[in-house]
Amino acid sequence: MFKKALAGIGAGALLFGLTACGGGGDDSGDGGSGNGLVIGFAQVGAESAWRTANSDSVKAAAEAAGHTLKFVDGQQEQETQISAVRDFITQQVDAIVLAPVVETGWTDVLQEAEDAGIPVILADRGVEAADEDLYVTRLGSDFAEEGRKAGAWAAETFAADADGTKILELQGTTGSAPANDRKAGFFEVLDSEGLNYEIVDSQSGNFTAEEGKAVMETFITTHGLDGIDLLYAHNDEMGLGAIQAIEEAGKVPGKDIQIIIVDGSKAGFEAGVAGKLNYIVECNPVFGDQLMEVVESVVNGDEVEKFTPVEEGVFDATQFEAELPNRQF
Ligand code: AHR
Repeated sequence: MFKKALAGIGAGALLFGLTACGGGGDDSGDGGSGNGLVIGFAQVGAESAWRTANSDSVKAAAEAAGHTLKFVDGQQEQETQISAVRDFITQQVDAIVLAPVVETGWTDVLQEAEDAGIPVILADRGVEAADEDLYVTRLGSDFAEEGRKAGAWAAETFAADADGTKILELQGTTGSAPANDRKAGFFEVLDSEGLNYEIVDSQSGNFTAEEGKAVMETFITTHGLDGIDLLYAHNDEMGLGAIQAIEEAGKVPGKDIQIIIVDGSKAGFEAGVAGKLNYIVECNPVFGDQLMEVVESVVNGDEVEKFTPVEEGVFDATQFEAELPNRQF
């Protein structure tokens, strides 16, 4: 259905790319200029080191490719992102890159972009399946696979725990793709591996250190830490905030309670080297160059995959020190 609109864009795209482009002009102060494309980027916010690295990567790649990037920080508010997309449509940009803070509620604005003939490329997070025809492609992480990786380590590590593994979970932003999928993938593997476990508590820390710490303090007040085996934090910031709360409660993170985090920032690895956490599932934010290639292909009307995952690894305690110098954010 979007193919039809895209075909039209594709036909004119080469001309766009080779002569002047979109009607927007550069009023953002971000990104490069020249004869490239005008790209609107509605980013989630600046809630984590991951997010900052992602914004930096996209800005640098746009500039290097000679495109003009209109960057809007959504401040973790869907309304702000929807307004940004509407502004991009008004400005008739060549393409819109959206990193949707949550999965639902995008149908109307995506339809408006399609009606205007402007292709939408999702970066990082996805939207609900019902809206799949309204964007062209998504480049980002396979969040369910990240959750499965965390689950595989937990299932192996606690396989011999006859009493049942007691788990606390710090979820990401409620309704976001990484929170939904990291949770689903994790428990899918614990179940398929037959681990005997109990979810003692599971709350959102909104992907921030402050909220992660506050939620962990509540967990500690409500349940104590005795007998809790594992904390699964959906990102580094929440895990690092929780580590502070655990230390302030007089316990030893990484020993009294084992900890898994997702992202793999420098700060996360430093905590790992200090023995304060046990497993890191990488989520890679540095895909700006790849994103520019996808945007160019889409505007050129080339066939693109509906989803392109970025490459990501996993790291246990034996690997933290060697890997730390390689971290880019
Ligand atoms: O969508 C990716 C997630 O968003 C990262 O894991 C997290 O740190 C960020 O806030």
